[in-house]
Amino acid sequence: MCGIVGAVSQRNIVPILLEGLKRLEYRGYDSCGVAVHQGGGLKRARSTSRVAELQAQADQDGIASGTGIAHTRWATHGAPAVHNAHPHFSAGPAGSAEAVGQSVGRVALVHNGIIENHDELRAELKARGYQFASQTDTEVIAHLVDHYYNGDLLEAVQQALPRLKGAYAVAVFCRDEPHRVVAAREGSPLVLGVGEGHGENFVASDAMALAGVTDQIVYLEEGDVVDLQLGRYWISRLDAQTGRYAAVQRPVKTVHAHSGAAELGPYRHYMQKEIFEQPTAIANTLEAITGISPELFGDGAYRVFKDVDKVLILACGTSYYSGSTAKYWLESIARIPTSVEIASEYRYRDSVPDPKTLVVTISQSGETADTIAALKHARAQGMPHTLTICNVATSAMVRECELAYITRAGAEIGVASTKAFTTQLVGLFLLTLALAQTRGQLSEADEAQHLKDLRHLPVAVQAVLALEPQVIAWSEEFARKENALFLGRGLHYPIALEGALKLKEISYIHAEAYPAGELKHGPLALVTAEMPVVTVAPNDALLEKLKSNMQEVRARGGQLYVFADGDTAIESEPGLHVIRMPEHYGALSPILHVVPLQLLAYHTACARGTDVDKPRNLAKSVTVE
Ligand code: F6R
Repeated sequence: MCGIVGAVSQRNIVPILLEGLKRLEYRGYDSCGVAVHQGGGLKRARSTSRVAELQAQADQDGIASGTGIAHTRWATHGAPAVHNAHPHFSAGPAGSAEAVGQSVGRVALVHNGIIENHDELRAELKARGYQFASQTDTEVIAHLVDHYYNGDLLEAVQQALPRLKGAYAVAVFCRDEPHRVVAAREGSPLVLGVGEGHGENFVASDAMALAGVTDQIVYLEEGDVVDLQLGRYWISRLDAQTGRYAAVQRPVKTVHAHSGAAELGPYRHYMQKEIFEQPTAIANTLEAITGISPELFGDGAYRVFKDVDKVLILACGTSYYSGSTAKYWLESIARIPTSVEIASEYRYRDSVPDPKTLVVTISQSGETADTIAALKHARAQGMPHTLTICNVATSAMVRECELAYITRAGAEIGVASTKAFTTQLVGLFLLTLALAQTRGQLSEADEAQHLKDLRHLPVAVQAVLALEPQVIAWSEEFARKENALFLGRGLHYPIALEGALKLKEISYIHAEAYPAGELKHGPLALVTAEMPVVTVAPNDALLEKLKSNMQEVRARGGQLYVFADGDTAIESEPGLHVIRMPEHYGALSPILHVVPLQLLAYHTACARGTDVDKPRNLAKSVTVE
């Protein structure tokens, strides 16, 4: 993943670069760094702490300049250590003409992505005399640009890029050209921010990093190279026919990006705040809905919905679980065959394409590399109808898809997804109803009832949030465990999966979820008094079956923690702990049942003292494969 910011200006841009980095920490936060052109050379500060520490270091070292680049890292090649943190510097090979009389550092470079042929390039550059100071794939790009440098940074970058295999966004500057930054993208996001004074121009991984600095944004396309100088910029790309770079024009858009800098208010963490924002996020997502119609998903949706007879959902992580939940709705309510695939698997699978498929991607960020690649793969296979449920209107995913439903969860800062998940479910339920309507499966009375239920959701979620004190009591028990099982059936099996994912990613407790009927086919062997078994047990058609599965756990001494409906005859007793949900909610019940699981994960993580909003090894936006 990683986040990039770069700038050329007549004023000191270090505060802007560092503020941009803070807003990009969702892309990775295991180390960070900034490099500037200063005193005729390159100067940098790097840290394995957070941006606040980097800022203190930069202040102490007097780092200030009008030209610079900065980076927040999510380690792929090389451990999260200072020597692997970006920006990387390159010097001419020892003893070469360029190196004579130079202090170390001619080219400074930051990178987001993965260079697949880095080993081969490293060997080549080592043979040319380059010394490597890190284990990163990035450092090879810095040396490669240095190798091609002959007085013109743009030319050097243009020569280096075709040598790279993989995905990247890079930003680079050179000691010998003080007012110039060159940046490029291929497979990783990058925007150009057109400055509004001081002759300045910017690049960044997203527009949010530049909020308050400029709202004039150019979304660079795959293969674009941008040359930033004082008061001008120039975009070029390789022309496959001539084999030369040629100028291209890209539209400048006014983007009112939010800085993402939300206040915590009374909450301890963003995750807790975001869990409690769910009633509002759901209400906002439903705000413009006055009735069900395909056009909620964009112009031309009716024609597309009429033309499809199956749905293929592609997503990752939590978004995959919202898709897995929607499969139950789409099949039972809209009567449309639906498959759900993990994007990173689908893109490499030899599947059988059907042009009458509606390809639905689900993504909070709209930038997840695996999901975007899976979408492109589906389209390349001859499935032209694409729709996304996404939380970021300006994202690559929305730009790539024919149709879209934008959830209005607002910026989600905690790495563990919460309000994005529940609003995705709302969007997917609306999609179910719109498809059902197009297919003649939705009576007016059913439509009215579903809309009524949807509109009641914010109040219903609010009532579930009131269960927090009971969940806290459970979390104190969970904090002492190292393993947990989650059970659900039917529509609530994906909710059990999501509960297990939440617990493992922020509390580091090993958690797995099973459809409860599977227990006796293997996982029951794990059940002891040390194994808490969380059971999502709404009062639905599968409840009696689920109760039998719970007996199987009790008989082996397992500790059951059950979320049951008010009218269910499941009573607390030794080894069986029950929290009653405020109301039974029919088809929309998954949206309510996930909330106490989010709270359980959150409070367990707090009790274990983990970094809840920035769990180890993770990043908010996963823009590498
Ligand atoms: C888990 C989580 C991740 C994301 C996944 C996909 O809490 O947030 O599993 O759901 O990385 O991200 P998006 O939805 O941005 O495509």
